[in-house]
Amino acid sequence: MSSAAEKTARRTVVATDRPLGAEIGGVDLQRIDAADFTALRHAFVAHSVVLIRDQRLTDDDLIAFSRRLGVLDWAPVQENGRRFVPGKPEIYVVSNVVENGAAIGSLGAGEAAWHTDMSYIEAPPMASLLYAIEVPASGGDTSFCSMYAAYDALPAALRERVARLIIKHDGTYNSGGYVRAGIAASDDPRTSPGAVHPLVCVHPDSGRRYLYLGRRRNAYIPGLELAQSEALLDELWVYATRPENVWTHRWRAGDVVLWDNRSTMHRRDPFDAAARRIMHRTQIKGTTAPSA
Ligand code: SIN
Repeated sequence: MSSAAEKTARRTVVATDRPLGAEIGGVDLQRIDAADFTALRHAFVAHSVVLIRDQRLTDDDLIAFSRRLGVLDWAPVQENGRRFVPGKPEIYVVSNVVENGAAIGSLGAGEAAWHTDMSYIEAPPMASLLYAIEVPASGGDTSFCSMYAAYDALPAALRERVARLIIKHDGTYNSGGYVRAGIAASDDPRTSPGAVHPLVCVHPDSGRRYLYLGRRRNAYIPGLELAQSEALLDELWVYATRPENVWTHRWRAGDVVLWDNRSTMHRRDPFDAAARRIMHRTQIKGTTAPSA
């Protein structure tokens, strides 16, 4: 964290030295007051990713806090077609733990490739909250990149070239490489299922432009030959995932990370499959479809 810290009597907001990410200290999400909540919202808009450490939340606490940010989405079903937490359809479990022969969550222990959550639907969630319940001693770090910074870094000619293009966000595979429940496997980006969005969008809160890539696998730019689409996407991805555009979080149990699902992408490192990692996630519905 940089030394540029905003302080009140209890609350601290400390930005990272990257184009995104800030840690808020001195708040308890179980009983956050209006002033702290306003500061957290400001940090979310200004820094896209907000870390709050040392929380002790039940699923009901996580849902109640998430609802202060907006209406919640129901979690997608797990890779094996099951819902996650009985009676709490808002909770998505990210975990490698197997109980009674069945996975309790999604994504296993492997790498989760760069992605934006659920951008393959018409109105993707505007934000996600991930709460760490159990974490491995090493591995499983989550990295975030700024899609504002990615757009800002584009050379003028490339910016002009992508200004009016659209992109199909694939709904076949999740970030762990698993085929989504009820979907047929496909590796043809032109015909695989998924929603089409502008390649450059304007953020409804900040008014800033961001590059909206979603995920690399099966992405496609309609109107281009497949080879041209692949080449352009490869070129754009280099700007998105440059090391100076990435902030990586090493988890501790009790951490909550809130990220803007429009102005960021994220990925997760693999970890030892024999270790346990249990994270609970909620998602806040987008109020509008991504737009240019
Ligand atoms: C996710 O992609 O939503 C999960 C990220 C993680 O497991 O850290």
